[in-house]
Amino acid sequence: MIDRIRQVIEQVQQHPVNAFASPLLTGYSGKRMIAALQHFTSLLEGQNEACYLEVGVFQGLTLLSVAGANPTVPCFGIDNFQAHDPEKKNMSVLLERRQKLHLNNAHLINMDYEDAMENLMVHTQGRKIGVYFIDGPHDYRSQLMCLLLAKPYLTDDAVIVVDDSNYLHVRQANRDFLVTHPEFKLLFEAYTPCHPTNMTPVQEMEAREGWWDGVNIIVRDKANLLPAQYPPTRRNRVLFENDHLTHASRIGELAPRALTVLNLLFTGRFLRAAKNLQMAYREYRNLRFKGQFDDANTFWE
Ligand SMILES: C[S@@+](CC[C@H](N)C(=O)[O-])C[C@H]1O[C@@H](n2cnc3c(N)ncnc32)[C@H](O)[C@@H]1O
Repeated sequence: MIDRIRQVIEQVQQHPVNAFASPLLTGYSGKRMIAALQHFTSLLEGQNEACYLEVGVFQGLTLLSVAGANPTVPCFGIDNFQAHDPEKKNMSVLLERRQKLHLNNAHLINMDYEDAMENLMVHTQGRKIGVYFIDGPHDYRSQLMCLLLAKPYLTDDAVIVVDDSNYLHVRQANRDFLVTHPEFKLLFEAYTPCHPTNMTPVQEMEAREGWWDGVNIIVRDKANLLPAQYPPTRRNRVLFENDHLTHASRIGELAPRALTVLNLLFTGRFLRAAKNLQMAYREYRNLRFKGQFDDANTFWE
């Protein structure tokens, strides 16, 4: 199976053909990514006990593209629509697209991934995961948990595709998983010099034709045929260690806003800094999760 997975990667590196291109399907993914997911899933045809599963559906670009290219394979997507959805319309867009494209093999699991993974086989009607695409929450813990929680449900020759592996913390989660689970191996990795949001229009177009925001492809190698290899990370772990201080702070929940304010101040964008400070204060007053002490909160109190 590993050889067939490798062949798919070689094929999509050369000619990434979307086997179910539709103008209805837009979202965040690259052409190579979509073609690879479609082809990996086609390897499941005829295996009645396996399915495609993804975490992070958004408006269904990857889920529906894979389901459309593989009408006989059940495809499941987990999403609780908590991000990238300011108008709260993503679920209805997804369901409408599924209906218009007549994709009865595409199933939504409308839940937080941790809750869904508690009882995954109930949602997948007893099927194990043959192809697993991780494209949901990208924080370090969620990346690692997406890998750990899925482990008992993976088929023996499952392939795991981790999107957004450009991010250091995503690579670190993948590395931590690989180091602690030596029967899994990194088979392929590809990166771009930055996130597509920070690219020039030409670079962005190239990313759309490619893997979008970096990819790690992991396989189970029970026979230990492949050498151990890991995505690049930094030995300095200070950002991960900062986690402890954020968690124990009285206002840790405001950390992202606080960083925005400081960054704007230090780069001379004072007006925007002041606006963000105002927003920070509003958020502070409505905080649901506030510690009793300035720091070293244990949250028993
Ligand atoms: C980048 S989008 C996925 C893009 C999608 N694969 C596509 O084809 O366009 C990430 C998705 O992860 C979902 N998400 C974030 N945190 C989640 C969680 N804890 N449980 C389930 N889904 C989550 C968000 O709601 C969002 O729709």
